[in-house]
Amino acid sequence: MNRRNLLHRTAAAALFGLAPSLKAAKALPDSSLLDTNAEEYWKRIREEQFLLPDWRAFLNNGSLGVAPRPVLDAVTDYLSRGAGLLMDEYPRWGYETLDEERATLSAFLGCKKDELAITHNATEGLSMISAGLDLKAGDEVVMTDQEHPSGKAGWHRRAQRDGIVVREVPIPHPPKSWDQLAEIMVSAIGPKTKVLFFSGILSPTGVIMPVRQICDAARAKGVICVVDGAHMNGQIALNLSEFNCDYYAGSPHKWMFAPAGCGILYIREENLDRLWPTIVTGGWDDKALKAARFMKVGTNNKAIMVGMMAGLQFMKSIGPERIYNRIHSLAKLNYSMAKSRPWLEILSSEDDRLYGSLVTISFRGANAKPLWELAAKRKIWIYGSERLRISTHIHTRPKDLEAFYATMDEALGHKAA
Ligand SMILES: Cc1ncc(COP(=O)(O)O)c(C=O)c1O
Repeated sequence: MNRRNLLHRTAAAALFGLAPSLKAAKALPDSSLLDTNAEEYWKRIREEQFLLPDWRAFLNNGSLGVAPRPVLDAVTDYLSRGAGLLMDEYPRWGYETLDEERATLSAFLGCKKDELAITHNATEGLSMISAGLDLKAGDEVVMTDQEHPSGKAGWHRRAQRDGIVVREVPIPHPPKSWDQLAEIMVSAIGPKTKVLFFSGILSPTGVIMPVRQICDAARAKGVICVVDGAHMNGQIALNLSEFNCDYYAGSPHKWMFAPAGCGILYIREENLDRLWPTIVTGGWDDKALKAARFMKVGTNNKAIMVGMMAGLQFMKSIGPERIYNRIHSLAKLNYSMAKSRPWLEILSSEDDRLYGSLVTISFRGANAKPLWELAAKRKIWIYGSERLRISTHIHTRPKDLEAFYATMDEALGHKAA
């Protein structure tokens, strides 16, 4: 916190009796601990940087991530200062262009500031893309058969309203290779295909798609490439410009430590004027604003933006590569635990380059209800039905995975091999 903010906070607390903010986060452990005792490093990260109680095994980061203490502090500090009327700037976003925030975010995401709009979530960005493109009856949108409802729905709305055609292509699980996945997507392009839409990381199975390979081939055929990146930013290293896609929408509140309600929308520079904004107020047609035109959405809570920037800072302070290595090694451990139980089917690829931190299993038709009940009783946070996607983030402990599999064995009456 800078000196001015500290003074504001102290003055606000004194004047208005504001509650002190959450117990401040401790400094990160020294990274040299990673070399000497990595488990201790990550244990301290969980205990000192997150509010997760010790008894909670949280394995559903894929739905919504957990904001660490510095993020919660940033949000509450901002709200406290606003409540004390001690802010120099208007405490909102929705009419503002947030240039500073977008410059920082775009540097991290590998695109230009003017290609990046801040939204509330991937659903919103994906809806803006599907609603905002000029498409006419008979135009075809091709997508995988593993798209999240938030990605598919916008195209189906266009089908009902404007008569476009939506076609799904089946993705094998587990897939064999990136070449196989690229071949499936690119060979599905037909004479009427105008848009190829797919998730960069497939929601049901956690499979990482070969985004660049697909976009290179599809764009060379004049097809618009739209990527649902809800699970990408924060889970794996990415560079939006190198993806060579036309549009991308993401949800930093999943893997980038942002508070709920943070989204990003990437619009490749040459497409900026082609997309019609969906939510509009003054400035909606000011093309000089570039991507910021799509942020003119009316009054919103700036504290959430401040939280998102704190989440990005948290990620950078630990180091995105260290984070990836940790969450991926936990995913490999998860995979191996599933593999040792032959009654499970693993839907993620055996090739660990094809998954980051999400591994999906299914129960081969067995009734998994006893598992959901016992896991809930033991405070193991999962969400599944006939299949289960397990997420590992930096607060996940190996013992959380062990507790989950032991619970599964017990609930379903199996013994590990
Ligand atoms: C692939 C994919 N796209 C979009 C979404 C929607 O994300 P949000 O609820 O953050 O808008 C999800 C949510 O899980 C998802 O998995």
